Amino acid sequence: MHLSSLPFFLVLISGIFCQYDYDVGYFPDSDYPYIHSMEGPSSAICAPECNCPENYPSAMYCDDLKLKSLPIVPPGIKYLYVRNNMIEGIEENAFDNVTDLQWLILDHNNLENSKIKGRVFSKLKSLKKLHINYNNLVEAVGPLPNTMDDLQLSHNKITKISPNVLEGLVNLTVLHLQNNQLKTDSLSGAFKSLKSLLYLDLSFNQLTKLPKGLPHALLMLYFDNNQINNIPDEYFQGFKALQYLRLSHNRLTDAGIPGNVFNISSLVELDLSFNMLKTIPTVNENLENFYLQVNQINKFPLSSFCKVVGPLTYSKIKHLRLDGNNLTRSDLPQEMYNCLRVAADVSLE
Ligand SMILES: *[C@@H]1O[C@H](CO)[C@@H](O)[C@H](O)[C@H]1NC(C)=O
Ligand SMILES: *[C@@H]1O[C@H](CO)[C@@H](O)[C@H](O)[C@H]1NC(C)=O
Ligand SMILES: *[C@@H]1O[C@H](CO)[C@@H](O)[C@H](O)[C@H]1NC(C)=O
Ligand SMILES: *[C@@H]1O[C@H](CO)[C@@H](O)[C@H](O)[C@H]1NC(C)=O
Repeated sequence: MHLSSLPFFLVLISGIFCQYDYDVGYFPDSDYPYIHSMEGPSSAICAPECNCPENYPSAMYCDDLKLKSLPIVPPGIKYLYVRNNMIEGIEENAFDNVTDLQWLILDHNNLENSKIKGRVFSKLKSLKKLHINYNNLVEAVGPLPNTMDDLQLSHNKITKISPNVLEGLVNLTVLHLQNNQLKTDSLSGAFKSLKSLLYLDLSFNQLTKLPKGLPHALLMLYFDNNQINNIPDEYFQGFKALQYLRLSHNRLTDAGIPGNVFNISSLVELDLSFNMLKTIPTVNENLENFYLQVNQINKFPLSSFCKVVGPLTYSKIKHLRLDGNNLTRSDLPQEMYNCLRVAADVSLE
């Protein structure tokens, strides 16, 4: 039964498929006949050069096509991928037929700020994700709709973020700005209204100080590979949720780190590797992973980990890296494991 009815079924499908294609006025790319044939008329509209998968019909993929401009985006598309092309600009009306676009993924193109026309993004009333990683931006794009949740602008040439460009993005949780040319002064006040921000990556920039006015909801904060040489006292006070802090490959010295600045009770992981520290900064008893490799540390004071040692007061450190410093086993205090009671590995070389 099944075997004999199958050919008829296929003929029927391809009949619908041909008629449909005739109606919209183009023939599908022969690479994707199945995808087109299985779609209902309303979801099958796709730009001819792109691919709208059957099981994800509101997504349009236009990756790796050497496109110099955006394809026509038909109504109904909510997720648009145009990665790895040669697009330099976006016309002001580019998304006029898809103002309910939710994801716009434009990584690996040649987009320039001056060629992104008008308020092209702020018209997108449901936009949640905007990715413009690996392009030629020199500043943050905007204005953006306040529905945004995830903004990624890494690997550009961004030198500044004006104070108002991220204003009102109350639901933004993820912000990628790594691998740009940002300086501390060109960031001031930029992040203050991002009340929901959980993840901020500012690594591989040119910061010499930590920016003022970061939102206190942050969970992950990455500043590695900058030129930061000091941290203001009480800088992290108020960050009640901060769990992951990366400051490796900076220019931190003992003098630039006030006594209790890293005693942050929510912190799980702290990376201070590849700096110029001579002593181990004081950390909270709750810290689990502490990276201090390649500094100039030459002593191991237990008080950096435990103010007092008692049955219930001990450091939760599991992994401690101290290799690439001026420390040997004999520098470790005898009573170390009274404090570092759960340490699984302490590496010295
Ligand atoms: C919007 O849709 C109209 C009607 O289908 C079409 O003529 C126009 O080119 C579309 N605009 C864009 C920017 O895609
Ligand atoms: C922010 O997110 C909440 C919860 O999902 C939603 O109710 C609200 O409308 C969003 N705000 C904006 C401006 O999109
Ligand atoms: C960290 O700060 C708390 C008070 O906030 C204090 O009780 C604790 O002893 C400090 N930890 C260290 C290792 O100094
Ligand atoms: C390493 O530490 C020893 C003593 O702990 C000290 O004599 C020596 O000068 C230190 N070397 C460097 C390069 O800091």
